Amino acid sequence: MQSLIIPTPDDWHLHLRDGAMLRTTVPASAAVFNRAVIMPNLVPPVTTVKAALDYRSRIMDEVPHGVSFNPVMALYLTAETTPEQVAEAAANEHIIGFKLYPSGATTNSTAGVKSVDALEPVLAAMQEHRVPLLVHGEVTDSDIDIFDRERVFIERHLIPITERFPNLKLVLEHITTADAVAFVKNANSNVAATMTPQHLLMNRNDLLVGGVKPHNYCLPILKRRSHQQVLQEAALSGNPKFFLGTDSAPHVQASKETACGCAGCYSAPAAIELYAEFFSQHNALDKLANFASGYGADFYQLPRNSETIELVKQQWTVAETVDTANGPMVPYWAGMGLNWRLNR
Ligand code: DOR
Ligand code: ZN
Repeated sequence: MQSLIIPTPDDWHLHLRDGAMLRTTVPASAAVFNRAVIMPNLVPPVTTVKAALDYRSRIMDEVPHGVSFNPVMALYLTAETTPEQVAEAAANEHIIGFKLYPSGATTNSTAGVKSVDALEPVLAAMQEHRVPLLVHGEVTDSDIDIFDRERVFIERHLIPITERFPNLKLVLEHITTADAVAFVKNANSNVAATMTPQHLLMNRNDLLVGGVKPHNYCLPILKRRSHQQVLQEAALSGNPKFFLGTDSAPHVQASKETACGCAGCYSAPAAIELYAEFFSQHNALDKLANFASGYGADFYQLPRNSETIELVKQQWTVAETVDTANGPMVPYWAGMGLNWRLNR
């Protein structure tokens, strides 16, 4: 096969940042995706409908002329979020859900949730209004090993939440473990998961063998190969509960290549090509369309995209750096080859 046409994909988990960074990040994602769920972990976090709509208009200002791009906003869930705010979010077409960050779990998460139990009234409102809960599923207790944080979060918090709120729509974001795959498969159809390119294409050897690779460092951290294989099987199985969410998370080179480097892989410049690489490595390119352009929209009960994109079989190399207003940035997969390329 030399050419592959699929419906225009959507990115169900994306960080764009704010200010001048948008000049780089928005065109990169708008070049391939039609819709994207925009993460709210700015400083300060995007906690209200008004703040999200203001942020959305700053994003729209950077969409290149003639390009269609629809950012759908996630609000940052905090201890102060009220059931009334849930109702307000439910009534706004530009708001897709609330993002739960456990406090301290990742970039800009200090405003996050310290007590999941205290969220009961807000989760009840989300269930009632059919507003999805998007979850960064990791505990942050210092006595829990970083490689076990996702599994323990599922056991302590997610299984109880799904039992207490069976009609709550819940997306476990950027899953990394066999435990997460089992949780999502065993849950009812209100529960789904996004998968990143790096967790499908890499494991912790790619982070640590032969020297620390800061550009492969993200959270949840890459896990051992046996977990990667279970993630791969889930994506390849065609189960509609597993769909595309890049978690593309831009940080400038100076913030990644330093003694205390930031977590996040900026995969946007090659996002769809990276997923195509994964599916083609497993002779399963026929599964790309639903994973990238079908199942996520179905889960969110949004129409599938009617436009298409074309991928052509052509070797190319991801750029070593991308210029931004804040300095150079090293994209994920920098300097490495890919076999499929978006026909732009
Ligand atoms: O690696 C990550 N980077 N994981 C997250 O959860 C957040 C993200 C970011 O915002 O940089
Ligand atoms: Zn993220």
